[in-house]
Formats: sequence, C-alpha cells, structure tokens
Amino acid sequence: MSEVFFDPFDPEQAQNAWPLLKELRARGAAARIGDGMYYVTRYDACREILKDNGKVFSYNLGFRAPGVVVPPEDRLLGEMDAPQHTFVRRAVVSSFNTVAVRREEPFIYRSARAFLEQILPGSTVDLVSSFTRPLPNTVTVHMLGFPVEDAEQIATWSKEVMESEYPAMNRTARGEGFAGAFPEYWQYIDEQMSRCRRRIEEAGDVPGKAPDDVVSRLLVAEVDGQRLSERQVHAVVENLLLGGFTTTSQLLGNLLYTLLTDTPLEGRVRADPSLVPGLVEESLRVSPPVLFIPVGCMRDTTVGETRVAVGERVILGTASANRDETVFEEADTVDVERANADKHLTFGFGPHLCIGAELARTTARIALEELFGTFPEGALTLDPSYSFENVSTYFECGPARLPVAVAPSPRQEGAL
Ligand code: HEM
Repeated sequence: MSEVFFDPFDPEQAQNAWPLLKELRARGAAARIGDGMYYVTRYDACREILKDNGKVFSYNLGFRAPGVVVPPEDRLLGEMDAPQHTFVRRAVVSSFNTVAVRREEPFIYRSARAFLEQILPGSTVDLVSSFTRPLPNTVTVHMLGFPVEDAEQIATWSKEVMESEYPAMNRTARGEGFAGAFPEYWQYIDEQMSRCRRRIEEAGDVPGKAPDDVVSRLLVAEVDGQRLSERQVHAVVENLLLGGFTTTSQLLGNLLYTLLTDTPLEGRVRADPSLVPGLVEESLRVSPPVLFIPVGCMRDTTVGETRVAVGERVILGTASANRDETVFEEADTVDVERANADKHLTFGFGPHLCIGAELARTTARIALEELFGTFPEGALTLDPSYSFENVSTYFECGPARLPVAVAPSPRQEGAL
C-alpha cells in the first residue's frame, strides 16, 4: 500500500498536486495520506464509490471535520445518505431541473451581455470581479426567485461562507450552524422564503398565477404526499446559493484563462462555435472547479488493494480521476474534440450527481458566446506581469483574478 503525507485540506498542497497524483495513480487506486485518511486516485475506483449510495461509504461522514455533527434537518444534500437524501433530492429536482434551466436562458444571455457591456474600450479590468463572479451568482439568484438587485450582497455573503471555517466546522467564532455563524444571511433567506410563501397564498388556486421560481416551487413540492419542512427548504436554498456560485465562477475563470493564454485555441473555437461544448467539458476535466469529494467509511472494505476501516475518511480525487491515463489519452492535454470528454467526474457521479451541472454548462456556453460576440479576437490581453493565483478555497481551483487590457475600439456587431 502506498503511503505519503498529503493534506487535501491545505489549498497550497491540494491545488498543486498534479505530479504527486500522477505518481500515486501509477502506484495504485488509493493511497494512505496521513491523519487516518485515504486518497482515491483512479477513475474506476472513484466512480465505484460515488455509486455506492450510502451502503459502505457515507456522505454524512465526509464533508465536515471529524467529530462535527450537523442536525439532520440542517444538512446539505452533500452530507446526507439514502433514504433522507433520496427524499430531499427528489423534491429539489422537481423544482430545479433542465426545464427550469432552459427557461432561464434568455436571462443568462441578457445578464452576460449587460456585464460585458460595462467593460469599457481602452480600460484595464479584472474579468473575475467584472464578469466570471457576478454572472453565475446573478443567474442563480434570479432562478431562485430572489431580487436580482440583492445579488451582489448575496455574493459577498456566499464568499465569506466559503472562505470561512464554516464548511468544515459548521460554526464560526460568531456561533453554531448557518443561523449562528451567518445570522444576516440566514435572516435574509428566511425573509425571502416568507415573501415566496405570501406570493403563493396571494395566487391561490387561480390557474397560471402560481409563482414559478425555484423557491416557490420547493415550498409546495410533494414527494409521495410529503413536503419538505421549512428548515429543510432553508438548507436546500443555502445549498443552491453556495453550491452554484463559486464553482461556476471558477469554471468561467478557468475557461477564460485558457483562452487568454492559448490564442490559437481561441481562434479555432471562434471559427467553429460547435467546439464550445467540447472546450467547456475539457476545462471541467483538466481544470476542475471542485478537486475532490470526501466521504466516510461505514464498513471495513478495500479500495483497489488498500484496506480502509470503519470511521476512516476517504477523499475521492475526482480531479485525479479526470487525468487517469487509462480512461483519457494524453490526459493532461486539452483536446476540444475528445470523444469522451464529458466522462469526467467533475460533477460527481451517481445519486449525488451535481444538480446544477446543466445550469453551469449552459452559463459557460452563453458566457463564451456573448464574450466572442462582444469582443473581437485579440481585443482582450492578459496583463503581461500576471501569474496564475488560485482562489483560496481548499477544494476549488480557479483564478482569483484575471487582469486584462481592453483594446481601444474592441466592440463588434453580432454574435460570434
Ligand atoms: C462548474 C460548476 C459546478 C461544479 C464543478 C459542481 C460540482 C459538484 C460536485 C462535485 C458535487 C458532488 C457530486 C457527487 O457527490 O457525486 C455537486 C453537488 C451539488 N451541486 Fe454542484 N457543481 C457546480 C455547479 C452547481 C450549480 C450551478 C448548482 C446550483 C445552483 C449546484 C448545486 C449542487 C447541489 C445542490 C449538489 C448536491 C447534490 C446531491 O448531493 O444530491 N452545483 N456539485
């Protein structure tokens, strides 16, 4: 069995582990990494565990620091196992699904264009703060049915949450749980839920009058005749706001970084927009916004040839699996025509597969279409002194900033 010291909760190590992960993949499916933890490096082993659905591996034991217990009703989907997970997920998927994403497309186009139009010719801007961060957040806020003018405040709160000790500890110095740690944010979500409830009551049974946003639908969604409790809806809303915001920002940031540093690739994709989906998948595979998924072991088992005991933590290295050479040829290389590009594990796999995958892919496609339509090739140049600096969240990968110079008269008419 391989044993190395590697701390995936340390951003510096987690975000720069590619050579180490390659070596570990060659040695076996899983390696002991210290602190009673195992890191699963190979594709097939990660996928197998992701399919497990709470039989041997538990999501409840994985996400938080050892010993941290979250009350069941406050749990995020990513820390529930079946049958609780199956019930809550069915309710969420009935409200937040492909149909809802298709309905959102015109708003995504409008928002992307509006953010890009604020980038002035001849200026220097940070594409992260002006585009890749606000766009996904505005879209999620709008889909949920919250006022779009609150999006910036929500983004600030969400960033604070993600960068705090709360994701690991379920508390901060201010208090316990989401309500104690972030009382203003918690209160805000509560008020918005009450607002949605009032709108549902006002609409009554009049056909066509029921509010059609995700939160209003969640409040009345029934699975086998049962509704989610207020606390469960609250937790799902937190989940959607937190799950979708920084991750999609990192995807957009990684995509733009790739294009800004590989101008022949940018030229190819602009000339043939049918390559955009392939570029998005390859960005997700090679530069995954989420690097790993932690689970806990509930029964003694083996992963490859490595024995894992009850209570030990298993980190599913989905970023490593995405570069497994037995599944992806020349795995470190971005190939926008790769036939199996969408087989990556960046959105997970199986019963917990990311609920926002379709929204993230759609937002990325539209962001690129609008960027290409607004700025001609070569109009945006990365600051020559720039060097890639990651966001500070330990499980994420994406540029903290992307400073570019905008050509004096960059605008062009029409799309692509
Ligand atoms: C590029 C963007 C995104 C990435 C890389 C990403 C990644 C992930 C990953 C790795 C998981 C765990 C999957 C598993 O355990 O098998 C997950 C779950 C989830 N994601 Fe995303 N996500 C993204 C965007 C979004 C968006 C836009 C939303 C919603 C607005 C969202 C909401 C969720 C939720 C609610 C879950 C929990 C699903 C469950 O446990 O059943 N995500 N995501």
